[in-house]
Amino acid sequence: MSYASKRYDFRDKGADYARLAQELGALLAGERDLIANAANTAALIFDTLPDLNWAGFYFLRNGELVVGPFQGKPACVRIALGKGVCGTAAARRATLVVPDVHEFPGHIPCDAASRSEIVIPLITGGQLLGVLDIDSPSRERFDDADARGLERLTAVFLQHTRSEAAG
Ligand code: SME
Repeated sequence: MSYASKRYDFRDKGADYARLAQELGALLAGERDLIANAANTAALIFDTLPDLNWAGFYFLRNGELVVGPFQGKPACVRIALGKGVCGTAAARRATLVVPDVHEFPGHIPCDAASRSEIVIPLITGGQLLGVLDIDSPSRERFDDADARGLERLTAVFLQHTRSEAAG
């Protein structure tokens, strides 16, 4: 397989996330494996979105979040539900945008460069499968348009992927 990402400047976030969702669908087409699709989804996001230092997945395993495929520096492996930005978004089952991680009580620092963060829960068939977590070295990197766009990408990921891994 050869892969050459299209370029996006995200000046029109709605349009560029829509194009990226199509590109992700094409990238995952014909493959159902959770790890394979999570790895390529993390890589596509890290390669195309500007100003990121970490992008990847945590999956729910026996009641806690365990790190999955990602791009960026090595990360903390296990996060309890309700803890940190990831565990809070997972417990609330709602997207969480943190403009400044230094001001989020209980934030779990993995890469000291991270300054803002967005976490999107992965819900399939009413079950929490895990979260998509994205960090930026810039304050206020993520807004509502990023939240909607990344929710769209997680929906594409879930459509293409086996979901029995929920634990
Ligand atoms: N900062 C996250 C932990 C995961 S890393 O950012 C990769 C949190 O507070 O949940």
